[in-house]
Amino acid sequence: MRQFQTKIKLTRYLNIYRKKSSIGLVPTMGALHSGHLALIKAAKEKCDIVVCSIFVNPMQFNNKEDFINYPNSINKDLEKLRTLNCDIVYTPKINDIYVQGEKVKEFNFGPLAENMEGKFRPGHFNGMATIVEKLFNIILPTQAFFGEKDLQQLQVVKALVQKMGSPIEIVSITTYREKNGLAKSSRNKRLSKKAKKKASIIYNCLNYCVQNKHKDIVNLKLYIQNTFKSQKSCKLEYAEIVNIENMVPINKWGAKNKNAICIAAHIEGVRLIDNIIL
Ligand code: PAF
Repeated sequence: MRQFQTKIKLTRYLNIYRKKSSIGLVPTMGALHSGHLALIKAAKEKCDIVVCSIFVNPMQFNNKEDFINYPNSINKDLEKLRTLNCDIVYTPKINDIYVQGEKVKEFNFGPLAENMEGKFRPGHFNGMATIVEKLFNIILPTQAFFGEKDLQQLQVVKALVQKMGSPIEIVSITTYREKNGLAKSSRNKRLSKKAKKKASIIYNCLNYCVQNKHKDIVNLKLYIQNTFKSQKSCKLEYAEIVNIENMVPINKWGAKNKNAICIAAHIEGVRLIDNIIL
């Protein structure tokens, strides 16, 4: 596996292969878990060359503490990527990505980015799209791989590609889960054993909606709110059932596989999100 820390060296290398090879990009912020590794595996199956980027992007954090506490396990990450025969890892320093004083780019993703993460993490999607657009322009992948756990991000990235008029194909991979249903996330590293157990409340609520799709949306949301109220140190931020095409909350069920139940919650202070498409 080759490691590049600068975009100049990375693009010089990729340019040799670009004409004849497909290039898959798996953008990450490190602290790799089995969900990321599934993205790398999918990229290896589909593409000739796989690039994994590891960069904790300050611009997408609206909360300084969340940024500072974001887990970092670079040596373990590199080992995992080597084991999977990932071809290239791009680990830029901040000044390879941003010029000093650079501001976040303002995109207008409309309703897609207005609710849920857009509402509770102001500026998050502009920050995320700023880095993803830069990575796309540096690496010029043929395909880029994203997890369905961040469903709203996935839809915003699809909109970004359209805005860019880019031919990059966005490939999504299903959510990987712990035995108790907790979605794999780098943030899980910050959960105590007890908190990990408690965090299954999120999956249990999502699953309740899957099992009770015949019920009214209002009642399902009430069920989730009440379930969280009864659990100490589990704070619900939002529970929304949305149309996945525009990520706008709905009151009536749409067609099969076009709705998603999305939850964000703080478990012992760690913010987690999850969803299931139904
Ligand atoms: O999902 C993530 O880890 C990040 O939002 C991404 C796509 C790597 C951009 O920083």
